[in-house]
Amino acid sequence: MGNEASTPVSEDVPPITLTARTVEAVADYIKKNNVKRIVVMTGAGISTSAGIPDFRSPNTGLYANLARLNLPYAEAVFDISYFRNNPRPFYELAHELYPGKYRPTVTHSFISLLNKKGMLLKAFTQNIDCLEREAGVPGDKLVEAHGSFATQRCIDCGTEFPDDRMKDTVAIKEIPYCERTRCEGLVKPDIVFFGEALPESFHRSRSLPASADLAIVMGTSLTVQPFASLPSFVREETPRILINLERVGGLGSRADDVLLLEDCDSGVRKLADALGWRDELEELWETTNPSRSERKKQEAKPKDKQADLDARIEELTRGVDKTLKLSEDHQRQFEKDFAKRPDTGKLDVPAGLAKSVTAAEHKKQSEGEVNDRKSNGSDLSHIYPHLDSKSVDKPSL
Ligand code: OAD
Repeated sequence: MGNEASTPVSEDVPPITLTARTVEAVADYIKKNNVKRIVVMTGAGISTSAGIPDFRSPNTGLYANLARLNLPYAEAVFDISYFRNNPRPFYELAHELYPGKYRPTVTHSFISLLNKKGMLLKAFTQNIDCLEREAGVPGDKLVEAHGSFATQRCIDCGTEFPDDRMKDTVAIKEIPYCERTRCEGLVKPDIVFFGEALPESFHRSRSLPASADLAIVMGTSLTVQPFASLPSFVREETPRILINLERVGGLGSRADDVLLLEDCDSGVRKLADALGWRDELEELWETTNPSRSERKKQEAKPKDKQADLDARIEELTRGVDKTLKLSEDHQRQFEKDFAKRPDTGKLDVPAGLAKSVTAAEHKKQSEGEVNDRKSNGSDLSHIYPHLDSKSVDKPSL
């Protein structure tokens, strides 16, 4: 488990369960076999077309954009020990990412459609943006493996903090503190930081992929454990479909793996077309459209959209930059603590989150990405394919 060969299965090897390794064959399989136990596994890539950057995409990913700032390493913004000492960078980001600003994508609506059709066994998401819920996926069908902004509590005494106070505090870029007398600990949304345990719901549902009759993996680099190992729990003969800009996690190595290496919105539309669900999908997605002004934005010229996305990323990183004035002492202390970790440079790996990339590797990678960004300008079309009409129908990688 979790150690699948990364070489794609040869074209000559016939699939076992499917008739072919194509989206049409997957649709056929769903229709003919009364498929009702679909497990969906997602990450930040399903929300990029909503305007939320993912984490690891070169140039546009959050980490590449935080790397030039004064953080010891980009992921420190989600590190619990770093947060204890300096919660500002996180709350600066929280101000940008807080739910309510973004519309679900058609991919979120596709997951909701699976549920409406009684075919969704579970949707596992690593995202904290709550867009699955906003698209109509009910809480009992959802495992928010890395938590979400939906609730929050004191990191010292565990006392819950009221939702409305949290919303107001984040809106004015303040830091919330526990309201319990004499506690005054820091309050944090129930997002799983590096160094924290995953929610109970994840552990309860972790074995479900083994009983799935189809797995759909979308918009994730599958680099963060233990989530990254979920697809390997799917039975060997069960088809798995990956809809992602790049090949990840050894998907493609089994006889019944289907790879759609493209934007997930266009990928789910292809699947919906093959299933004869396209109109239903678009109608369902339309219900998430908050206003006509949003519609106008969707229809804006590609050039305007690109400028808009560039501006959003700029604003995000400038905002963090402004409040991210770590004192030199603080930074030195943190780097000292980090160097002391016994795990030879791997990011924090207690009972909870683990990363398969070392801190040093990631720093190097991030620096490379920043340099790339400098030399390549801010071309976002590889990650927002709708910005480049020529790339819409062809795989991005
Ligand atoms: P990543 O940023 O690591 O990966 C996003 C993946 O989605 C990449 O493989 C992209 O190529 C792909 N992608 C981006 N846009 C896409 C699009 N429009 N269509 C299809 N694919 C697209 O994000 P995650 O895998 O979600 O944890 O990252 C996992 C965890 O790492 C996050 O939950 C977060 C982070 O540290 C915490 O914050 C605790």
